Amino acid sequence: MTGSTTANAWPTGERVAPLKLTNLLDLEALAQAIIPATGFDYIVGGAGAEQTLQENRASFDRRFVTQRVLTGKVVESLQTRVLGSALASPVIIAPMGGQAIAHVSAEAGTARGAHAAGTLLTVSTVSTLSLEDIAQASNGDKWFQLYLTRDDGFNRELIQRAVSAGYKAIALTVDVPVGGHRERCIRHEFAYPPVAQPRNFLDLLGQPRGVERTFQPCLDHRSLDFVRQHSPLPLIIKGIASPLDALAAVDFGADALQVSNHGGRQLDGTPGAFSVLPSIAQAVQGRVPLIFDSGIRRGLDVFKALASGADVVALGRPVLFGLALGGWQGVESVLNHINAELRTVMQLAGAATVADIRGLPLVKVE
Ligand SMILES: Cc1cc2nc3c(=O)[nH]c(=O)nc-3n(C[C@H](O)[C@H](O)[C@H](O)COP(=O)(O)O)c2cc1C
Repeated sequence: MTGSTTANAWPTGERVAPLKLTNLLDLEALAQAIIPATGFDYIVGGAGAEQTLQENRASFDRRFVTQRVLTGKVVESLQTRVLGSALASPVIIAPMGGQAIAHVSAEAGTARGAHAAGTLLTVSTVSTLSLEDIAQASNGDKWFQLYLTRDDGFNRELIQRAVSAGYKAIALTVDVPVGGHRERCIRHEFAYPPVAQPRNFLDLLGQPRGVERTFQPCLDHRSLDFVRQHSPLPLIIKGIASPLDALAAVDFGADALQVSNHGGRQLDGTPGAFSVLPSIAQAVQGRVPLIFDSGIRRGLDVFKALASGADVVALGRPVLFGLALGGWQGVESVLNHINAELRTVMQLAGAATVADIRGLPLVKVE
């Protein structure tokens, strides 16, 4: 495989069907059978030795939920709200670039599936389809994920396009001042699928050393000021993994934080994201909403994240597997499944509503 994009390396099938699911972890092997290896490894892979990627899952195994009986509670609803958007459940979709890797419908399929399940998605700066086309693909709320480039004119244009297209918030990703050392991508000489629209950001990234040449490596409080200057939308800072950075981002004017280690794709050797969530929640003290991602695979994980201070969680890789296996209906199936799991956990742990979960402390067993 060469570094250049080869059209026939990406899925061309247009399978659209609901999925029969037992759990979301099983999806990975099913998706591996249909996504070409270079794309599959781009999706599943992490940085370096993938220690953080593994910890993102393992960290959930070190906290336990208390079973509750005789509470008289029956689950009433999974509904919640975040930054003004009404959601069917506290599970939203994380931004992921180049979704043509998974399915020909790309981000349009994900947007339709998210809306069908009553939730929102964040659209990546490095989407396959243009942000305007994705905005048109469903009536559901969407957030725009922003990578700042070295070109302020381009940054301004991107922000203004997102505002004009009706996005409800900007999520500024701050944990990619440089691309993570992703060994699976290096082995495959990974390159994003070709894009049809000349205005698309992926054109820039398709070049050799695209991330290093394109992304702004120096991010600080001025980065937040820049976005605010050009957008009236709520500003989420994505990629917070320490209490100190959380407090700084709130002081710099963030309207929400996304606690995330980018799914283990950036700095390897850091703790699982779930391990650092409680200390971040403690530091922030509810001043802004907390979105959590990195490692969520089960309804039980959603419950644990909410009990540890998250307001909503964002799901990453399983959504792309659902998209690959069933198009927009696959995405809807993935969301419906994790919501059904969450409902069962809530009933068995004595939580009637999402708000109830926050009052239920987890147990640490040494
Ligand atoms: C294939 C893929 C592409 C991604 N692209 C982006 C991106 O463009 N922007 C971004 O902020 N995060 C990106 N992420 C990180 C996700 O938003 C999220 O932090 C992570 O996937 C959550 O972890 P999980 O996959 O374990 O659920 C990407 C993740 C994956 C797996």
